[in-house]
Amino acid sequence: MKIGILKESKKGERRVSISPNIAKQLIEKGFEIFVEEDAGVASSFKNSDYTKVGAVVDIRGVVFKESNILIKINPFDEDDLKLVDESHILMSQLFHKSHPELIKAIAEKGASAFSMDAMPRISRAQDMDVLSSQSNLAGYKAVILGAYEMTKIFPLMMTAAGTITPSRVLIYGVGVAGLQAIATAKRLGAVVEATDIRLETKEQTESLGAKFITVDNTGEAKAEGGYAKEASEDYARRQKEAVNKSLFQADLVITTAMVPGRKSPVLITEEQVKQMKNGAVIVDLAAAQGGNCELSKLNQNIIKYGVKIIGTTIAPESVSTNASDLYAKNMFNFIMHLTENNEFKWDLEEEITDETLIVQNGKIRKNGKTE
Ligand code: NAI
Repeated sequence: MKIGILKESKKGERRVSISPNIAKQLIEKGFEIFVEEDAGVASSFKNSDYTKVGAVVDIRGVVFKESNILIKINPFDEDDLKLVDESHILMSQLFHKSHPELIKAIAEKGASAFSMDAMPRISRAQDMDVLSSQSNLAGYKAVILGAYEMTKIFPLMMTAAGTITPSRVLIYGVGVAGLQAIATAKRLGAVVEATDIRLETKEQTESLGAKFITVDNTGEAKAEGGYAKEASEDYARRQKEAVNKSLFQADLVITTAMVPGRKSPVLITEEQVKQMKNGAVIVDLAAAQGGNCELSKLNQNIIKYGVKIIGTTIAPESVSTNASDLYAKNMFNFIMHLTENNEFKWDLEEEITDETLIVQNGKIRKNGKTE
């Protein structure tokens, strides 16, 4: 089987779906690899890094023509689809629930498509979970972005010129990104607090040495498969009561709270921002889905009431070498899972295949079942 690695076309994207190291491992498993010219340059991988491991680097048209499997990070776009035909199996994050027109267009081409963001949250799928590998880096980078914008340092420092008290960091959402943000802020010496609607995250927060702010979630819909459900207005009120004291003392706030398929919950309103410390920083990782802070603007840094608000989606892209390596490793594990002796198994009884296969030979599958 021949795998084509496409150059990402999304503005600002620096990652590549397969790194040279993983290209080598796929070649060792018997796959042929075609890489679009300069696909890896923004992740610091040269064309020659791919050719050295035995991949072919060529122009876009050749990659489409030669490959059966086409891999990307971002959803396939109109230009890609012009070159897609029924021989292709597409793999990328398709965000199929919010892109029905893309799914229809893929089906019209007669192609098949797997969506990486549809990966079920079961332990055996962990090493194929791109949302998880990328969120982990986002959590780290959010702290670094925040630290850069702050006018304070993180740790306690006793110097001849006086004592510097540690910064206070508050994290909303203790999922993959939130946990890494806690760990990173702790390592830098901050006093860290965190909250989450899922109370099972209390123990995880405390195991990293941070304080968990418990908000009574009685009556809230139970989380499914690691994901949270939408919170009620009453919960939002209780959350404010429990968290406001920490919010108004915080030097850095990182928000990561998301609910799949929904707009992000607003956890910090304009009224709350007004009461925050002058010079405080909010890094809103949920900005692409509307933001956890009411004032966040996507991909903008703004200052309101003396608070810097960074609405960012670029966190994983900005550490593209590591992000590409991890994405590539997830893809490698996924391809190994789906194939045997270089052939697709198409085992639709198996949960990972069933959930991630969105279009099969031009047929759109709904809820994992062929129509
Ligand atoms: P996410 O990105 O959907 O949400 C981030 C966090 O925000 C979650 O912890 C969620 O509970 C929290 N949240 C949502 N609404 C909130 C609200 N109104 N107030 C406060 N917090 C709110 O979740 P993420 O980070 O992708 O994963 C969540 C969990 O799923 C992880 O803890 C992990 O254990 C599990 N997971 C399991 C995988 C597997 O087994 N293969 C793979 C990835 C994650």
